[in-house]
Amino acid sequence: MTTLDPRPQTGAAPWIASNQAMWDARVPIHAESAWYDLAGFRAGAIALDDLELGGVGDVRGRTLLHLQCHLGLGTLSWARQGAQATGIDFSSAAIAAAQALAAELELPAQFQQAEISQCRLGRLFDICFTSWGVLMWLPDLAAWAQTIAAHLRPGGTFFLAEGHPHLFIWDDERDGTGYLPRNPYFRHSEPVTDREASTYVDMTVQLGHPQHRWNHPIGDVVTSLADAGLRIVELAEHARLPWRPLSWMIEDSDRPGWWRIENDPFPLSFTIKATKETSR
Ligand SMILES: C[S@@+](CC[C@H](N)C(=O)[O-])C[C@H]1O[C@@H](n2cnc3c(N)ncnc32)[C@H](O)[C@@H]1O
Repeated sequence: MTTLDPRPQTGAAPWIASNQAMWDARVPIHAESAWYDLAGFRAGAIALDDLELGGVGDVRGRTLLHLQCHLGLGTLSWARQGAQATGIDFSSAAIAAAQALAAELELPAQFQQAEISQCRLGRLFDICFTSWGVLMWLPDLAAWAQTIAAHLRPGGTFFLAEGHPHLFIWDDERDGTGYLPRNPYFRHSEPVTDREASTYVDMTVQLGHPQHRWNHPIGDVVTSLADAGLRIVELAEHARLPWRPLSWMIEDSDRPGWWRIENDPFPLSFTIKATKETSR
């Protein structure tokens, strides 16, 4: 089987710790934001979209592990759909917020603080799920895929929905002047660092923390999963995205809150469905 670029991913710990502090700082802002709409969630909303719901399918009575669960809205939504859901995230502030919300709403979900590459819960799940804005925070997709494989029962399902990695090339290019490349597409062991992070829920906020991100080409995502013993069932590319990284994107008239580019010239997001091979 093909292996990824063998360059060692050592030395990422300071970047991870720095990102962790940045995510902790985002949590209270996100909890108050219209983007996350906690009031709507408290009133019974499901914080999952049609790609996620359709891709994962019926979760009633099934165990589900949600990686990088943030405030827990996705995890708690899976619980509302009937799953026995567990969410993990490296942000202690996010996990505390998720646990408080679960207790308040009396939803049967568990949350645990864990960094993806280190996470070993010692349990197997029917489903492993992760979505939207997750991969660029991870320096090492091989470790990510091994964590997924380590928590799936043989025959279990993995589902990912994510922004398309080519968007990272001109990430934050907001002046509408065209397709100006700023960041690398291909794998880079050093992260792209922004010295002052803001947040997608309010770009006027300055968090007082840097952010460090790594882009992962689709080939690396698929190969890391295959190397970890997952069989790809479907890789699909989509011409829409649930946020607006480029100023020339237009709102999808069929789906409020989703964005596309006129005439749909290229994909903006992708989904992967995979199963854990039974022989490994
Ligand atoms: C964009 S958010 C989660 C996406 C989710 N769809 C949402 O909007 O709530 C990304 C999450 O990844 C978490 N995260 C980033 N790097 C991580 C790592 N190395 N290990 C575990 N969690 C991580 C952050 O704390 C954050 O909660």
